Amino acid sequence: MSTSISRRGFLLGAGALLLPAACRGASVRADGLLPTPHVPDDDQPPGPFPVDQRSACTATADNIEGPFYKAGAPSRATLVGERDRGERLVLSGVVLSTLCKPIANATLDIWHADARGGYDNDGWGMRGTLVTDALGRYTIRTLVPGRYLNGKRYRPAHIHVKVRATKREELTTQLYFDGDPYIDGDPFVVSSLVMTHQRDGGGRRATFDFVV
Ligand SMILES: [Fe+2]
Repeated sequence: MSTSISRRGFLLGAGALLLPAACRGASVRADGLLPTPHVPDDDQPPGPFPVDQRSACTATADNIEGPFYKAGAPSRATLVGERDRGERLVLSGVVLSTLCKPIANATLDIWHADARGGYDNDGWGMRGTLVTDALGRYTIRTLVPGRYLNGKRYRPAHIHVKVRATKREELTTQLYFDGDPYIDGDPFVVSSLVMTHQRDGGGRRATFDFVV
């Protein structure tokens, strides 16, 4: 006969031992029994993390770097200035490993076009790097990029990102906005990189979780 005790049995036993203390101050039911104490179920994963379950733990698709990347962007999470024209965008999410663990101190290197579709190739407009917090989270305040011509057709609005984390291959990718009519037919768009977004006052909010 096995001498092991199932985990549930152990918890119930522990709960019974803890009953007097756990129920201190609890009212006794009409049948003379004390209410069942609450036993937390620690089989549940820690959280909450704002993880999109559809893409959790599947490595984020890469995407072309394009010709406008510049290394050395300033460290900042707010790319937009008061004088910049364009619809405001708050982009947030988490950087995770393929084992679904949040990655702290991952670097996000962001660059995108301004509202008119132009890149600042002389300065650092709409460019910045930031680092995830202890829970792997990031938030970027910027504006919705404009579209620009690629040959004879416009590319859909997009945000370029490089994600760097210790002992992981650097990810270079782009994020797109669902509902953009220029997504269909663009040769570079990958469906898993299309973000849903919400209107928020005069701007938009979007969420994207990177997995590297
Ligand atoms: Fe671009």
